[in-house]
Amino acid sequence: MAEKPTSTTPPSSCREWNARLYHRLSTPQVSWGKKVLARLRLRGDEIVLDAGCGSGRLTGDLLAVLPRGHAVGIDLSQNMLRSAREHLRSHPNLSLVAGDLLHLPFTRVFDGIVSTAALHWVLDHDHLFANFRTALRTGGWLEAQCGGGPNLMAFRQRLETLTNTPRFAELFFGFREPWLFESAEEAAAALLHAGFVKVQTSIEAAPTLLDNAEQYGEFISTMILRQHLALIPGEDLRAEFIENLVEQAAADDPPFLLDYWRLNLCATAG
Ligand SMILES: C[S@@+](CC[C@H](N)C(=O)[O-])C[C@H]1O[C@@H](n2cnc3c(N)ncnc32)[C@H](O)[C@@H]1O
Repeated sequence: MAEKPTSTTPPSSCREWNARLYHRLSTPQVSWGKKVLARLRLRGDEIVLDAGCGSGRLTGDLLAVLPRGHAVGIDLSQNMLRSAREHLRSHPNLSLVAGDLLHLPFTRVFDGIVSTAALHWVLDHDHLFANFRTALRTGGWLEAQCGGGPNLMAFRQRLETLTNTPRFAELFFGFREPWLFESAEEAAAALLHAGFVKVQTSIEAAPTLLDNAEQYGEFISTMILRQHLALIPGEDLRAEFIENLVEQAAADDPPFLLDYWRLNLCATAG
């Protein structure tokens, strides 16, 4: 399916991921996502959208519970889709689509939508949930989880301090965080506004401990700071930026802890 570039579609430098590293490092995301999939009560013949499917580690688990159904994985990143294709090897019950969740090309198609670790990258949730509502059949369900509430607050405060130092301030002038971390109440209001019913939202802590400095640096570079690093010219300056955050995390007790919080979203298309 052709991707339609629009004014709200992010430029490719912001869309792309290092999918190989994501696939290898995403153990925390996969463990959170498996808990979301465990919430599903499927017959096995449903048509389900995996919104922001990434490299497909969880799409594979979804396919395992849809033996007579179909999964459609959609993602903005061509690297992620390529990795998902390799990983899932042309599964007969799977379609992979390049596209933007803010411009979903589906009307009343899906029995359900799942999404894990993706929706906080979409900055307009009113628009996003309206699109989800349109893509679902009446009575269809949404089971999702993304960053929310005080997600990465301590890490983000360090980041803000670092980007305001004389060394980096000019590069980050006018920069806005690329995430939307809603509260449970804000997300519930947005879902109701979009026409969902039986809305349940909640926030849960998901503190994540990395093993050592190398793993922490690789993890924050790949998972959190893609758009920050894209603004910093030169390998040496990027390394200095990451090293500063790694050194601070090494001095924490315990060291290398990321203060993740997850927002759970369950709702039915009314
Ligand atoms: C952290 S990954 C999560 C991947 C997978 N769901 C998982 O849990 O491992 C977030 C994914 O959301 C995708 N994404 C972010 N914004 C998107 C948008 N507007 N439309 C489609 N995909 C988007 C990214 O390209 C990325 O693959």
